[in-house]
Amino acid sequence: AQSAKESLYVVSQYASAFFVKQLWDTDEGRGIGLSYFKERGFREDILKKFEVGYSPDVWDALTQSATNAGHKLEFLEATGLSIKNDNGKIYDRFRGRVMFPIHNFTGRIIGFGGRTLKTDKNVPKYVNSPESEIYHKSNVLYGLFHAKKAIRDLDNCYLAEGYADVLSVHQAGIENVVASSGTSLTVEQIKLIGRFTQNITILFDGDAAGIKASLRGLDMILEEGLNVKIVSFPDGHDPDSYMHHVGAGAFKTYLEQNRKDFILYKANVLLKDAGNDPIKRAGIIRDIVESIAKIPDQIKASVFIRECSSLLEIDEHILLGELNKMRSAKL
Ligand code: UTP
Ligand code: MN
Ligand code: MN
Ligand code: MN
Ligand code: MN
Repeated sequence: AQSAKESLYVVSQYASAFFVKQLWDTDEGRGIGLSYFKERGFREDILKKFEVGYSPDVWDALTQSATNAGHKLEFLEATGLSIKNDNGKIYDRFRGRVMFPIHNFTGRIIGFGGRTLKTDKNVPKYVNSPESEIYHKSNVLYGLFHAKKAIRDLDNCYLAEGYADVLSVHQAGIENVVASSGTSLTVEQIKLIGRFTQNITILFDGDAAGIKASLRGLDMILEEGLNVKIVSFPDGHDPDSYMHHVGAGAFKTYLEQNRKDFILYKANVLLKDAGNDPIKRAGIIRDIVESIAKIPDQIKASVFIRECSSLLEIDEHILLGELNKMRSAKL
């Protein structure tokens, strides 16, 4: 007999095929789901490649279809696809949403993100699968299965926030992109990227939350010993919206021309608020040295100290002194 774990993969695959069929072959799916994707500018080949789908806006369409096909409720519940309420009534977790299946890096479906089509602020924008025996959010990168070859070949991994960002960057012809999706970036996710490349380029949203997350992310990446660059987007844009705004060609050029190393990026972000206030400037310099102090490789760290020194016009030896103080404080 099939193991329980294998049954979770099988039922997830069934659900994915069900959502795909709903999107392309039903009036509701085409009229609501597919037209939504089209309005956002997604091409059909990208939608097919990522196996996006649609969950009907009724209580238990998937649960009914899957159990009729012989899948056990037990496994539908274990993946979170079906939920039993307090009265024992069973309903679908995902209803009336466009569906993004999440693959593990060997290509098996382990979970889903479902985006609402409503503009109602009280409805969560995305509903995600819960943790299960096959889905551990903190160890998964959305898009890795479709990106891993390009990440290796190009020796760089673009790291975005969301599902739509991954699809749109692909649509621009850039395949080495993944997203942390549904969780803030974890050490496990960085280590996973590290199996394919030592170079990460952060493409987070150009809003306050995205900037904050990028500062946290770059420190974590440095601490893992990987190299990090950042491309930022104009306020209000994320990689997805910006790609559709400027077009594929201009988007590619933008990524190439706006890739900043972390020192320049941090200096730009932080100095914006500091103006000419010398005390604030000193705080920022210390903040940058703090990031450099996370780099395990001492030689690399000293190269960044030199860059920081020339960029911010501070004596290199003073910065090295600070670096050593921070390092010994950590020991
Ligand atoms: P965003 O709010 O930036 O959404 O969250 P988005 O990806 O740009 O979505 P679109 O373009 O409006 O469709 C970034 C990511 O955070 C997770 C999702 O993975 C999302 O893609 N998220 C966001 C959730 O899990 N739940 C939410 O309610 C919102
Ligand atoms: Mn877990
Ligand atoms: Mn955002
Ligand atoms: Mn976004
Ligand atoms: Mn978006």
